[in-house]
Amino acid sequence: MNAFHIRDARGEAAALHALYQACVKALPRCKQELVAHAMPHQLLTTPGLVCFQDTSPVAALLWRTTDAGVVTAEFYGESRGAAKEAVEVLVQAFLAATQSAKARYFELWTPQDSKVLQVIRGEGFQPLDRQLLSISKPITSPALWNQFRFLSLRNFRASDCNTIARLIQEAYAGTADGLFYEEYQRPETCGAYVTRIINSPLCDLRNSWLAWSPSANKLAGIALSYIWPRASALYLEQLVVHPLFRGKGLGRALLSSVCGSLAEGSIEKVIVTVSKDNHPGLALLRSAGAEQIHSEVAFVHKQVPRGPEAQNNAGRPGETKSNPPILQPA
Ligand SMILES: CC(C)(COP(=O)(O)OP(=O)(O)OC[C@H]1O[C@@H](n2cnc3c(N)ncnc32)[C@H](O)[C@@H]1OP(=O)(O)O)[C@@H](O)C(=O)NCCC(=O)NCCS
Repeated sequence: MNAFHIRDARGEAAALHALYQACVKALPRCKQELVAHAMPHQLLTTPGLVCFQDTSPVAALLWRTTDAGVVTAEFYGESRGAAKEAVEVLVQAFLAATQSAKARYFELWTPQDSKVLQVIRGEGFQPLDRQLLSISKPITSPALWNQFRFLSLRNFRASDCNTIARLIQEAYAGTADGLFYEEYQRPETCGAYVTRIINSPLCDLRNSWLAWSPSANKLAGIALSYIWPRASALYLEQLVVHPLFRGKGLGRALLSSVCGSLAEGSIEKVIVTVSKDNHPGLALLRSAGAEQIHSEVAFVHKQVPRGPEAQNNAGRPGETKSNPPILQPA
């Protein structure tokens, strides 16, 4: 019979390196091409836990917590020899260590037979099916210069993050993604999310675009990109058009601006993840020639609200304690 021990990941660099290598090796080739083959240095100082099965490290989980109490898994690695009990011990230790979290998210690049996927489902995490898509050719778009001003984000003041946050919050309101992702739901969480993207060293301001409507004096849409240098790729983190300006070709025009770097030859592909139920998003990407490279599942575990918050939520149509509306696809 195996013995399982949990240790703080910050003293376990060798175990993390080994689990990272095992994790990369187990990825499908299309994903191996997109990730760093050595563990990124910053992960070694990230909060996390490692589970040892007897004396071998068999599973590790690292995470990040926002000021709003949203926890996101940053890395998960599992060795082939990990017993399901080892993964259960690790996930339960993670839940205990993050018990005040408002919501916990797992968006893992892990093989479909990983034990963690069974374990988190068993712990009540709710899934959202997603697709990883790739665009490798520039796309055409209608000329919209008479309706919108297009600005590269490098010309935008960082102090205007709140304007972008408001746009994102309003664009996702009432959508399955808006219900799933806590960060899109309130101005302060959306503001923190936008600030984090824009301040990331990987945010590619040159290939991130804003569309301003002079007639409405309003931000109409945005595309935010990260650079993934190892993969010669851009990752499209956000593509959003305000509901007032939809159906005019603006989403396509913003996507076309991002894909302009494909024509310059500075990158080889634009990668994007989209939820399977996001029909407008999928239709736009497909019409732009995006091809699916993999399917994914994101998971969330939300705290059931207690006290006044629970009372405010009580009685909303479709909402029950065991099956909250945040988890219902639109
Ligand atoms: C997805 C989104 C950006 C589309 O913006 P938009 O400006 O309305 O899109 P466009 O007018 O440029 O449409 C381009 C193409 O997308 C598709 N499309 C856009 N909206 C659609 C809808 N509601 N239903 C079906 N197809 C749609 C069509 O193929 C359309 O081409 P067509 O005009 O030749 O029919 C917008 O709906 C949005 O902001 N949604 C919320 C945020 C989101 O989900 N972002 C993720 C996108 S990956």
